[in-house]
Amino acid sequence: MPKHFLMCRPDFFTVEYAINPWMDPEAGADRDVAIRQWEGLKAAYEDLGHQVSLIDPIEGLPDMVFAANGATVVNGRVYGARFAFAERGPEGPAYLRWFAERGYPTHEPQHVNEGEGDFLTLDEVVLAGTGFRTDVSAHLEAQEYLGRPVISLKLVDPRFYHLDTALFPLDGKNVAYYPGAFSAGSQEVLRRLFPDAVLATARDAEVLGLNAVSDGTNVVINAEAMDLQLELKRRGYEVVPVDLSELRKAGGGPKCCTLEIRGEN
Ligand code: ARG
Repeated sequence: MPKHFLMCRPDFFTVEYAINPWMDPEAGADRDVAIRQWEGLKAAYEDLGHQVSLIDPIEGLPDMVFAANGATVVNGRVYGARFAFAERGPEGPAYLRWFAERGYPTHEPQHVNEGEGDFLTLDEVVLAGTGFRTDVSAHLEAQEYLGRPVISLKLVDPRFYHLDTALFPLDGKNVAYYPGAFSAGSQEVLRRLFPDAVLATARDAEVLGLNAVSDGTNVVINAEAMDLQLELKRRGYEVVPVDLSELRKAGGGPKCCTLEIRGEN
């Protein structure tokens, strides 16, 4: 099943502030390399038959390339983002406007939430992260607007500040995750919900290997996540490695650059 993604070219990408432990403004990042790597990700999606739409990047919003944070789209409805840090604040309305202008029903968020960074949609439930960015009150707001049960999961390691840095859906029913990113209680919840999950190693997590995008057959994943790639192949998935090392300097990987536009279902 082809998917529809929204992406944002990193034309204004920099690392000039630090809002997560991956970011070092002194070290910065190379924008041209980031653009080349991002083009590689976009081409990988198109080669797999997925549709990619683009939102215009805005000068002064260096993290806008991380489209996943821009909204959560389920069943054709768009739940807007409201960012935890002022540096990214204007991205929320910009992404919401993109959808409104194209006729999507939208909901302006009352509570802090960073879109698909912390909301990951499966067939029957939405998994929602909290602890660093998204407020738990947004989980209820999302459930009310999107009409799908939302399951709260608590993140405890600042390196894995968004749910999508610690877990990704393999399909509509199963997930891969790094247990160490979650509280003891949330680990228990994940074990109960997903007894057959792919468990990632610390080495996979440390290269943002969990920040991957699966269409149920192919998994687009950071090339450095070696253990996870082996395990995915063993389970019969096609692995599509990409190099996004420059964007990782801002704490992002393939999934961060990708907002899924889910139609009505
Ligand atoms: N520098 C960005 C931030 O800290 C990176 C966002 C990555 N996006 C994601 N979906 N995990 O907000």
